[in-house]
Amino acid sequence: MKTRITELFNIEHPIIQGGMHFVGFSELVAAVSNAGGLGIITALTQPTPKDLANEIAKCHDMTDKPFGVNLTFIPSFKDPPYDEYIDAIIQGGIKIVETAGRNPEKYMPQLKEADIKVIHKCTSVRHSLKAEAIGCDAVSVDGFECGGHPGEDDVPNGILLPRAAEELKIPFVASGGMANARSLVSALAFGAEGMNMGTRFIATKEAPVHDNVKQRLVEASELETRLVMRPLRNTERVLVNKAVDEIMEIEANHKDNNDPNALLEEIRPLVAGSERVLRDGDLEAAAWSCGMVAGLIHDVPTCKELIDTIMQEADEIINQRLKSYANA
Ligand SMILES: Cc1cc2nc3c(=O)[nH]c(=O)nc-3n(C[C@H](O)[C@H](O)[C@H](O)COP(=O)(O)O)c2cc1C
Repeated sequence: MKTRITELFNIEHPIIQGGMHFVGFSELVAAVSNAGGLGIITALTQPTPKDLANEIAKCHDMTDKPFGVNLTFIPSFKDPPYDEYIDAIIQGGIKIVETAGRNPEKYMPQLKEADIKVIHKCTSVRHSLKAEAIGCDAVSVDGFECGGHPGEDDVPNGILLPRAAEELKIPFVASGGMANARSLVSALAFGAEGMNMGTRFIATKEAPVHDNVKQRLVEASELETRLVMRPLRNTERVLVNKAVDEIMEIEANHKDNNDPNALLEEIRPLVAGSERVLRDGDLEAAAWSCGMVAGLIHDVPTCKELIDTIMQEADEIINQRLKSYANA
């Protein structure tokens, strides 16, 4: 399947694995890219720019297909050394960067100078238009159903994607709630040129997370995610567990107390410990990002099995089901 996204990134299938903190290591990234999609390393999971350089080198050893690096501009008191992370990206020969969080305008000249294609993740049409205006090559349009940070507008993809299609000139992929061939075909119908998946890629054989997490995703229904950190305007969609119940109780009791810093300090250990879930398999230890799409995850295939099945079934939907509705 050729789309503006497969052409832009020189990939076989219009399927991207979005950056994921404590998940986006080279094992998963190389598996996705080797299967013809676009794998993306998560820069800030690497403790230092030097570690990122090593991870990029490791990934080059595991695939000769294109892969990218995610750079998330998180709200924090003290920024990570972004310039040094970008240096590691450029020196590592990376040609695709997924940016997310704050507007990447400040870093665009460095990235463009190095001939890097930038896809910015946005949760609204206005941010997507801003990304287009500052020279991003593509946008990942992330609907309210997504795992991780859905923003504060709460517009689901049924509206957000066709709105993006009305306004954007650069190509975009649908992100949030994407899991299978139906997702891909509907994304294309909404005007996207492919899809970005996060949660679905965690439940794959190659994802370097604990088996407990993969099994939990297979069992979870679409009703089991919750939104935390809304009072901090840093909303995160997570899978419910003991830590999340605790966060929600703290937040509810904090409603009349207008001190976001105090709230953050109180919930910090519960929202900052996802590594203990993802790496160690302690499912109740902390909040961890997860999309409503958990309800559509029923197995733990390899990345190649997942992507091949999606592409084959998408072809069947387009050429059989949809064709049968077209005028002769
Ligand atoms: C465990 C997890 C960690 C994530 N970490 C990041 C991150 O560090 N940076 C980022 O830009 N997006 C992050 N995301 C968001 C994904 O890249 C992607 O946009 C999102 O998962 C899409 O929604 P889906 O989960 O419904 O597929 C994360 C998502 C998950 C599930």
